Amino acid sequence: MMSKHEKTYTTQANFMLHGGDYNPDQWLDRPDILADDVKLMQLSHTNAFSVGIFAWSALEPEEGVYHFEWLDEIFDNIHKIGGRVILATPSGARPAWLSQKYPDVLRVNENRLKQLHGGRHNHCFTSEVYREKTQNINRLLAERYGNHPALLMWHISNEYGGECHCEKCQHAFRDWLKEKFDHNLKSLNDAWWTPFWSHTYSEWSQIESPSPIGENAVHGLNLDWRRFITDQTISFFENEIVPLKELTPNIPITTNFMADTHDLIPFQALDYSKFAKHLDVISWDAYPAWHNDWETTADLAMKVGFINDLYRSLKQQPFLLLESTPSGVNWHNVNKAKRPGMHELSSMQMIAHGSDSVMYFQWRKSRGSSEKFHGAVVDHDNSSENRVFKEVAKVGETLEKLSKVVGTNRTSDVAILYDWENNWAINDAQGFGMETKRYPQTLQEHYRTFWEQGISVDVITKEQDFSGCKLLIVPMLYLVSEDTISRLKTFVANGGTLVMTYISGIVNEHDLTYLGGWHQDLQEIFGMKPIETDTLYPNDKNYVNYHNKTYQLKDYATVIELTSANAEGLYQDDFYANTPAVTSHQYGEGKSYYIGARLNDPFHRDFYKGLLKDLSLEPAAPVKHGKGVSVQVRQDHQKDYVFVMNFTEETQPVTFESTVKDMVTGEEITGEITLEKYEVRIVEKNS
Ligand code: GLA
Ligand code: ZN
Repeated sequence: MMSKHEKTYTTQANFMLHGGDYNPDQWLDRPDILADDVKLMQLSHTNAFSVGIFAWSALEPEEGVYHFEWLDEIFDNIHKIGGRVILATPSGARPAWLSQKYPDVLRVNENRLKQLHGGRHNHCFTSEVYREKTQNINRLLAERYGNHPALLMWHISNEYGGECHCEKCQHAFRDWLKEKFDHNLKSLNDAWWTPFWSHTYSEWSQIESPSPIGENAVHGLNLDWRRFITDQTISFFENEIVPLKELTPNIPITTNFMADTHDLIPFQALDYSKFAKHLDVISWDAYPAWHNDWETTADLAMKVGFINDLYRSLKQQPFLLLESTPSGVNWHNVNKAKRPGMHELSSMQMIAHGSDSVMYFQWRKSRGSSEKFHGAVVDHDNSSENRVFKEVAKVGETLEKLSKVVGTNRTSDVAILYDWENNWAINDAQGFGMETKRYPQTLQEHYRTFWEQGISVDVITKEQDFSGCKLLIVPMLYLVSEDTISRLKTFVANGGTLVMTYISGIVNEHDLTYLGGWHQDLQEIFGMKPIETDTLYPNDKNYVNYHNKTYQLKDYATVIELTSANAEGLYQDDFYANTPAVTSHQYGEGKSYYIGARLNDPFHRDFYKGLLKDLSLEPAAPVKHGKGVSVQVRQDHQKDYVFVMNFTEETQPVTFESTVKDMVTGEEITGEITLEKYEVRIVEKNS
């Protein structure tokens, strides 16, 4: 955070990767198509291909019978055109013989129903056989391709997720708990508050994973189960990479992370902050529903920016966009095609926030089965002449001009804290508003004003060092350990500015509420204490008067008792009318703010404007622009690379206040220019 970064070549490539998931295994009886692929790869300006993701049955059609010749040829063909291979391990889907012969690889769902063979992403993470089989095929891949000059990176499995409730997993869960609670069942009972509804366990064997047909009311159990799922997934992953680390220690390892799509919030089911530590490179699959009918293009772009800044911040280094679609997907409710220009704009947005790649699912549209209508670089027409192909090729040409940007990072003085465990606990909490908690969305609402102004934000997790940032924003930090509280205290004491909101500091890491009122350290930091949290119906109206302006609130209002804080804003109505809604407090060398109500965008804009002024924080690039235009910057020691992106349907004037050079056209620009609808300009300037 803060200081400018050395370049980090996460993939060891010093050029932007452009390409995607390539499934020649679906076309092995069509050498003509495979030959066309090679020509089309060149025409599309693509250079990197994720191969083998679901190719297990082509690699090992029968147990112990291996066919690598086809993959040898693919490697060589890609190498001949100067391309690189991102080699996948095939564990995301398995051959039928494997499920048939070793049924314990099949998952059992939360209703304790054993699943049949089929689909994908559905194995038991604990199964010894599956672990052995995946390690075996991975070893063979590493032995055969580990020294191939085209090999760039390992793509481990595909979009890890889901959970298994089989007996082996129950045993593993109990062992995990025994270790966590030092083999002391009483500690577990205490931490989980099990006397509630007579749920006290008298033997470890009574513990079962949460289930709709069994236990689901013990929040400590739910939380630990989710933690276990993350750990067990990582343990499966670690088992997969044993031979790769041994045979190819210099080849970086990634796996593709996801986002939950409708609201475009971080993937919920796994704690990526833990997973990140096991990867060399973070990568993710981005499928925003561009041109949807429920939000503006700029709103959606802001959300994409937020996730990018979260995934970039997980390792504080550039990441990869490993999948995206050149046009529409096949699994949204409405699978709208990207309008002309949107493909380049949305791709460059990823680069602007720290991606060193634009990769697609998929290279060639499959002919049959469920993804035959998913967007692809090469359509069923096998042509390089259609609109989508041409837009892809144009993105490739642009990326070729951005090699200097590879490895650069962003410089942020502002951080927002996102915590997966907090999200799990807050969603589990029965109370507040069942449908209005919206923790990740709330973070996005705070992020918006910085995104609009072109102020870089790191979205960090709780174990990261936040001592380097000037402004730390922790909305809705419901679950917070004593340790985190004490780190927040040190942060403010040493001069940091901290913003906290309603529904924060309520439970500890076991999801047990703090007793005796708000935590003493929090009271000291903030000079106040929350007394009650009021939950509002959608039609309830109330307002906060803050610095002579009035802002509407919704969903939540905290009744506050001041000790030494200043009231910066007061509630207008209800039984807490004229009591503090927003407070500030000097603590040590720093300052803290508590926002008691869920307030609207105009409030966030004005509130943070004041803070930015106090902290002398300014946009990273001197570019004047209107709403819906996003200016994002990547930097190295010498240069700023500035991405100016029009996420509106209108033309937009933007003004460069210093002379910059367009990285695509080479043109020098000063002063005002006009951006067309969805246009993006990428410029460099000395920093
Ligand atoms: C995911 C998967 C891909 C493909 C795409 C479709 O990201 O990883 O295999 O199914 O979705 O959008
Ligand atoms: Zn299992």
